[in-house]
Amino acid sequence: MEFEHIKVETIGRIQYITIDREKKLNALNRFTLAELHDAFTAAFKDPAVGGIILTGKGTKAFVAGADIVEFDGLGYEGGKEIALRGQSTVFDIIANGKKPVIAAVNGFALGGGLELAMACHIRIASENAKMGLPEVTLGLIPGYGGTQRLTQLVGRGKALEMILTADMISAAEALQLGLVNHVVFADDLIPKAEEIINKILTRSPMAVAAAIRAVNAGLVDPGNGYNTEIEEFGKCFGTPDFIEGVSAFMEKRQPNFSTQRD
Ligand code: COA
Repeated sequence: MEFEHIKVETIGRIQYITIDREKKLNALNRFTLAELHDAFTAAFKDPAVGGIILTGKGTKAFVAGADIVEFDGLGYEGGKEIALRGQSTVFDIIANGKKPVIAAVNGFALGGGLELAMACHIRIASENAKMGLPEVTLGLIPGYGGTQRLTQLVGRGKALEMILTADMISAAEALQLGLVNHVVFADDLIPKAEEIINKILTRSPMAVAAAIRAVNAGLVDPGNGYNTEIEEFGKCFGTPDFIEGVSAFMEKRQPNFSTQRD
């Protein structure tokens, strides 16, 4: 697949997707979003890919937001269409992906950039990263899932403070809030993401996919989370990974899982 606004590289079982509009601080225009859709859809289907690291080109920004230039002149229908298309074709696809996606936040993650990082399953930030949802400074609100995912990650009070003030927070503050999982030196950002993905790659891919589905189910519909967990737990039984995992435990050896995810 040929891309203009992102770079996609697979090394071993990890796919690196890098947003590549450094001069515009990797802002998400519609072409970049379309390419992200294609890349993630392909990565989730490709049996050679075990997990994905998403980052931004350069040292200044992960993604400085949706491309504000594209908002100019739009009305209600156009605005709604941007949010709907973005959420359904990129952000929800990443969040519901059956392989782990780690955001390596290497600088500004603002607006749609923070929303993109929050759609990923795990976030690692470099110590120079700055995060925020500045949409109210533009007469907007977050439209790529930010009002929901920030609230889920940091709670209603802190989410509303960040959204209503539009203030950026440091990586250290984001760590304290639980918005990012780890903060590391810039040079350690990708290695830390690799370390986590490589550990997940030793676990059952089928169970990893089931765990993501169960966790996400409760976020969409809190009443359904426990039922989904029961269903997914039951579906694990009798699968080749379950048989291998339990046998390996009994035989006191490391399991050797298949790459099957369903
Ligand atoms: N959309 C479109 N272009 C953007 C952008 C965005 N979200 N964020 C940055 N850019 C562009 C700038 O217009 C500039 O382009 P130019 O060189 O052609 O003028 C380039 O990226 C560099 O940005 P600049 O503002 O000069 O860098 P800075 O270091 O002075 O400031 C930021 C960095 C992140 C504070 C500033 O770019 C900013 O506030 N960006 C918008 C953040 C935002 O509101 N995001 C939410 C969008 S919904």
